[in-house]
Amino acid sequence: MWPEFTASNQSRTALGPLRKGLAFLASHYTEHIIAAHVPIRVWSEPFDTAEVIESSTRLAEVEGDLPTGFVWDRLKEAVRLGQSLLVLREEPGKAAGKVIAFSVCEVGGLMYCLGHRFILSREWLLTHYSFVHPDHRGKRYAYELMMLRARFAHQRGISLFCGAVSARNTESLKAHLRSSYARIVATVRRSSLFGDRFVWTTPADRVRDALRSVAREGGVTLGGASDTANTPSQSSS
Ligand SMILES: CC(C)(COP(=O)(O)OP(=O)(O)OC[C@H]1O[C@@H](n2cnc3c(N)ncnc32)[C@H](O)[C@@H]1OP(=O)(O)O)[C@@H](O)C(=O)NCCC(=O)NCCS
Repeated sequence: MWPEFTASNQSRTALGPLRKGLAFLASHYTEHIIAAHVPIRVWSEPFDTAEVIESSTRLAEVEGDLPTGFVWDRLKEAVRLGQSLLVLREEPGKAAGKVIAFSVCEVGGLMYCLGHRFILSREWLLTHYSFVHPDHRGKRYAYELMMLRARFAHQRGISLFCGAVSARNTESLKAHLRSSYARIVATVRRSSLFGDRFVWTTPADRVRDALRSVAREGGVTLGGASDTANTPSQSSS
């Protein structure tokens, strides 16, 4: 990765075009794969369930807050098949009904990371994206959503979670690693030259092996066929 510039604002402005040029020549992007076994004691955590909804039908309400490039058609299909889960937190009190935080998950499904795709078995709950409204960040709603996902998973006999988080997204990493059950099991790096003309990424096998080994700890398998086609990955979370 190019070193971060720590110059003053003035020189930062002057360095702007240089940085752009350097990023064109070579750029690097890192994603962490986070996985966890569903914790045993999650459902005993106190939640105000009146304000939290598990739904597979309200995806359209949060579409505007999903990153561009999100695998939207696939998720719609997952909703149709009943494989997707949307965990919503509505604002308490006067603004009841207004969504202030959500997670979009899928039972099994395709995990995208830096151009690699992994087909997961139904023992995995894949989190595609989590979002907390800016006015409500820092209140640990992301953790609450994670616990709700765990409860959902446990009730359905799903024993494993996973998701990919950009290494730059420190808020998300903090939020998702807050649970002692979750850990980074692999780090995937994508490097490219000349404005993405030449791209190479961490071998997909490394991620697959890491997920397999997490699955083995829980006595389940990674899933059916895996696919490492070099398709555009979804926007990083
Ligand atoms: C990532 C995200 C879901 C975390 O949700 P959250 O409920 O705010 O998470 P937490 O309350 O656990 O806070 C996580 C970290 O965010 C930072 N934070 C705290 N208050 C904050 C605020 N008011 N605004 C922004 N970030 C804040 C802190 O570093 C905090 O960690 P700390 O409490 O240990 O210091 C949320 O920031 C978000 O929606 N970001 C934009 C979408 C995104 O990047 N999603 C990631 C998908 S995996």
